[in-house]
Amino acid sequence: MATEGFEAESLERASFEYAAHPARVLFGSGTASRVGDEVRRLGGTRVLLLAGHSVSAAVEHLCSTLGPLLAARFDGAAMHTPVEVTEKALGVLREAQADCLVALGGGSTTGLSKALALRTDLPQIILPTTYAGSEVTPVLGETSDGRKVTTSSAAVLPETVIYDVELSRGLPLGLTVTSAVNALAHAVEALYSPQANPIIDSLALDAIARTARALPLIAGGDTGPASGGSGGFDPRADLLRAAWFAGTCLGGAGMGLHHKLCHVLGGSFGLPHAETHTVILPHAMAYNAPAALQAMRRIAEALGVEDAPSGLFDLIASVGGPTSLQALGLAETDLPHAAQLVAAQSYPNPRELTVSGIESLLRDAWHGLRPAPSSLRGVADSGPASAMPDSSSLTEQVVASFDHAPDPRVRQLITSLVWHLHAFAVENELTQGEWQHAIDFLTRTGQICSDTRQELVLLSDTLGVSSVVDLLANSRTPGATPSAVLGPFYVEGPPETQQGADISGGLPGIPLWTDVRVLGAQDRPLGGAIVDVWQSNQDGFYDVQLPDLDGPVLRARFRTDEEGRLRFWSILPSPYPIPDDGPVGAMLAAVGRHPYRAPHLHFMISAPGHRRLVTQLFVAGGEYLDSDTVFGVKEALIVDFAERHGPTPDGREVAGAWRSVEFTFRLAPDAS
Ligand code: BEZ
Ligand code: FE
Repeated sequence: MATEGFEAESLERASFEYAAHPARVLFGSGTASRVGDEVRRLGGTRVLLLAGHSVSAAVEHLCSTLGPLLAARFDGAAMHTPVEVTEKALGVLREAQADCLVALGGGSTTGLSKALALRTDLPQIILPTTYAGSEVTPVLGETSDGRKVTTSSAAVLPETVIYDVELSRGLPLGLTVTSAVNALAHAVEALYSPQANPIIDSLALDAIARTARALPLIAGGDTGPASGGSGGFDPRADLLRAAWFAGTCLGGAGMGLHHKLCHVLGGSFGLPHAETHTVILPHAMAYNAPAALQAMRRIAEALGVEDAPSGLFDLIASVGGPTSLQALGLAETDLPHAAQLVAAQSYPNPRELTVSGIESLLRDAWHGLRPAPSSLRGVADSGPASAMPDSSSLTEQVVASFDHAPDPRVRQLITSLVWHLHAFAVENELTQGEWQHAIDFLTRTGQICSDTRQELVLLSDTLGVSSVVDLLANSRTPGATPSAVLGPFYVEGPPETQQGADISGGLPGIPLWTDVRVLGAQDRPLGGAIVDVWQSNQDGFYDVQLPDLDGPVLRARFRTDEEGRLRFWSILPSPYPIPDDGPVGAMLAAVGRHPYRAPHLHFMISAPGHRRLVTQLFVAGGEYLDSDTVFGVKEALIVDFAERHGPTPDGREVAGAWRSVEFTFRLAPDAS
């Protein structure tokens, strides 16, 4: 991947310019009560209070704090600071002969205050209630006849910013997340801006780290230090400070592709501001990552993740933030036009902008796909330039070929597969001979499959993939019995069998008495549950592997009694090798692995209103428990198959020792 662009890639940033914007900041909890002193400090006697709609209790409190200083109030601030609204407020200001502005609210209220200051030169005190950060930037964006006009002037900077943590404490989670990610975007883009400098870097990294620390706590219901969940720090104070620092980054360094994307999506397609920032940021970062390697590494470190773009996507998703442009109401047919608008003008950005690249970025964001980790995109972070040919644009070309797949899930899966396969080839410098060998192996694995032999499942089992998929599908309900792989020896429709029967069909082995219970939600016994069982014989073979056997043996279908109980006789299962006379057996032999499974009894349990449980009980003390060749053993499924002598529970005569196993299965409720 080319690392074109201007990121000097020197953390030292040996030469730089830095301009600080003057501002007096009062930060803390309860600082709003000092507003009167601040007005007097600025020589104000008649305040025009600008207030947002959603903070009525705080406004009332501020009014009473201001007391006789309050001359008038204007509550009509609107998004994008329309000039008509400013004119109206100007009328109120003049009529009240105000000599000081106090603004309490989010970005819109701050914008109005700045617009009034620009026209009147009155001093401003701003009390932010969200994390927009515009109170510390010299930038004002106004709309006139539907057109946006941006002014950058020190005249719009407030004299004082009062950050009172209590003002944002009650901000709803959704707004908190989008507002905080909006702020995060300023910090992120400042780190790869042409104006980057060490002061801005420090502020940006601090803002990123605080945001990453605070958001999960707030999403988890942490309301502040009093709630005791955050180890003594206040996540709301973290976010407010991050907003201030990130706003300072925005005021001190030029922004890149991300801000341009959000500007176009908001301005030309009417998408909501903070939500759009939240959806776009991980994708804009992924796009820029190849040309901003050090910035991405520092962001990843501050976020506490391996990879910045995918790590940020995960953070946003985990706190319930929006992740798709589709959900924000953008039409898929608008994507090409949006890409053209974004690429139309050139502006500073670490990576060159191409219409196709931006359209692909937007398509990922539209579908809500997780950006592939940089390591898979071929974005290397270190090391001297090697002689390795660069395959990343080839990978991107292949990935882009799926851009129009109609099913987003299919697109996600096949795209991710290609990324991983290409990365596998590159990381291992795969030779043509090795790849040919792999293709031959897969060909033979397919060719040996028949109605009674499923070598591809064996491959999946022995590589542990079956157990990973099983874990993902079935281990989300705490308290439910863990599942285990189905294996190839289950046969549909096993013989219906009465409780207490012996399913061994007279085959030799140590008699085994099984006594289990099936419970559902709230440990309610599940009567009438269907329980299929199957197991190997004493030599480790299933009936289907023994063509001379007459009919099904060591497999049955039972129903639990009204107490959810099931009892039956069989024989103690033995360890056995999975079929190892094919390519999978050859693979195991080639890597020095044995083909054995630990001894176990299979269960498949179904009951209305519950998730079907497919699992196995393993014989404690049995062989191969810690090296089961299909990785099916779980601690909670290893049980005592206790040795017994003498009378049996149902009075059956048994000569010599027998075994018994007891277990309680807990089924998860069926979420659907
Ligand atoms: C089994 O337990 O029956 C089994 C599971 C996976 C592969 C082979 C056998
Ligand atoms: Fe088995």
